[in-house]
Amino acid sequence: MPLLQILQVPHPLLKRVAAPVERVTDDIRRLMDDMLATMYAAPGIGLAAPQVGVSRRVIVVDLAKDETSRAPLRLVNPAVLWASEEQVIMEEGCLSLPDQFAEVRRPAAVKVSYQDESGAAREIEADGMLARCLQHEIDHLDGVLFIDHLSLLRRQMILRRLEKARRVRA
Ligand code: NI
Repeated sequence: MPLLQILQVPHPLLKRVAAPVERVTDDIRRLMDDMLATMYAAPGIGLAAPQVGVSRRVIVVDLAKDETSRAPLRLVNPAVLWASEEQVIMEEGCLSLPDQFAEVRRPAAVKVSYQDESGAAREIEADGMLARCLQHEIDHLDGVLFIDHLSLLRRQMILRRLEKARRVRA
């Protein structure tokens, strides 16, 4: 499985609203497998198709800490059906903003509808880390990054830090 290139901020595709998938085809299944391989290699716990240059509503998630406990989730056209009133603050990062982290407030629990890799309609209820990860990845499909949940000041601080890190590496 080829590793895909992960786009970084400020790539314009990361700000675009991704198109729904009409049918879960072999191409979509291959995309999800490649996204998982790319995510594991990064390493990361979630990846959205726009991050690898494909503006379609597809995400993959796996919270497993090591290879032996892998439990990949492949979600096509995921949508938040319900979100808890209770909100929690958790630290987030993103493969499109390498080495940048911030505390983000989001609903503690969500119910998400999606289609699985066979095209079957499914629902998942999640709290904790999984709820967090699902919301973060679904945001990507609407062109929203975790820094968009922060104040302008904190967002600019992270973007400046990212730019500085790039200059140091260059
Ligand atoms: Ni992300």
